[in-house]
Amino acid sequence: MKILVTGGTGYIGSHTCVKLIEQGYDVAIYDNLSNSKIDVLDKIQFITGTRPAFYEADILDKDMLCKAFDEFMPDAVIHFAGKKAVGESVALPLMYYHNNITGTLMLLEAMKSHGCKKIVFSSSATVYGTPKTVPINEDFPLSTTNPYGSTKLMIEYILKDLYVSDNDWTITILRYFNPIGAHDSGLLGDNPNGIPNNLMPYVTRVAKGVLPRLRVFGNDYDTHDGTGVRDYIHVLDLAQGHIDAIKHLDKSGVQIYNLGTGTGYSVLDIVKAFEKANDIKIPYDIVERRPGDVATSYADPSKAERCIGFKATHTLEDMCRSAWNFERKNQ
Ligand SMILES: NC(=O)c1ccc[n+]([C@@H]2O[C@H](COP(=O)([O-])OP(=O)(O)OC[C@H]3O[C@@H](n4cnc5c(N)ncnc54)[C@H](O)[C@@H]3O)[C@@H](O)[C@H]2O)c1
Repeated sequence: MKILVTGGTGYIGSHTCVKLIEQGYDVAIYDNLSNSKIDVLDKIQFITGTRPAFYEADILDKDMLCKAFDEFMPDAVIHFAGKKAVGESVALPLMYYHNNITGTLMLLEAMKSHGCKKIVFSSSATVYGTPKTVPINEDFPLSTTNPYGSTKLMIEYILKDLYVSDNDWTITILRYFNPIGAHDSGLLGDNPNGIPNNLMPYVTRVAKGVLPRLRVFGNDYDTHDGTGVRDYIHVLDLAQGHIDAIKHLDKSGVQIYNLGTGTGYSVLDIVKAFEKANDIKIPYDIVERRPGDVATSYADPSKAERCIGFKATHTLEDMCRSAWNFERKNQ
């Protein structure tokens, strides 16, 4: 089966391409390298022995999309390409709406005109806004607190409307919780530009001495130690969730699954787990809460297990060790 992976040189996309190739899929990557590097292709080749076809192109570029579809003729698309920084989306909303939404419209039009009607889309737990209870299941109310989240929710609506207009489409929407960790080789991992937005890359950079101290945003939440609780999932488990979804693209319709572990860890749980797994101290300061952050968010992952056989298997220790292994070998 041929899979076109948009955003395939990025953090989650690259791990998914490795898993796809290892499990016998024929992969082509479509990425403009706006937030990833070309050497990811060498790393995928080193790990798997296979170099995926590569289109260095923008999803906003309809002609290049058509060229990729004409040449590669994919059976399905996994659509990761998009901008993902919440703070940047608040500062540059038009850029976010254009890149993520217009880009997805271009992709869907190219798919439609080439008769490729199977797609797996990267959504996010951010579409649950501020949930009133946990664990969060797929039927919870949807809302957003920033333009990035709004792009994800709007794309979900677009995909649902597309199916209503044409029942041949097979659409799987995956709502990720908090991916962390890295490939065991230490070659692929999360390598954000500038000061990281997410906890784990921040922790690994403090561990390395690139950043002096971790900033913990608030310790007065209603949680076991006062710091925010999230559902951290190993990126390799998340990647496997895409293969599980691809294997179940046989019936048309729109399916939505949470990809998480079902367990919540606080910021300080992560700091302690990282210190223990890697024998490194992480100095930190408690600072003001960040606007928009919720106290606790973790998934009810049972629907994905029931329907597509997805179950996260990596431990928090695996996540902490692999993240540090990647940081040491790469930055
Ligand atoms: N990492 C997370 O915590 C997280 C959580 C929930 C959802 N997601 C979503 O999952 C997807 C992948 O996330 P990631 O962490 O791997 O991000 P990433 O930035 O590492 O990867 C995204 C890739 O898309 C590419 N890209 C962006 N705009 C493009 C465009 N217009 N044309 C072609 N390529 C483009 C980038 O160059 C990058 O390689 C994103 O859609 C993101 O919103 C991520």
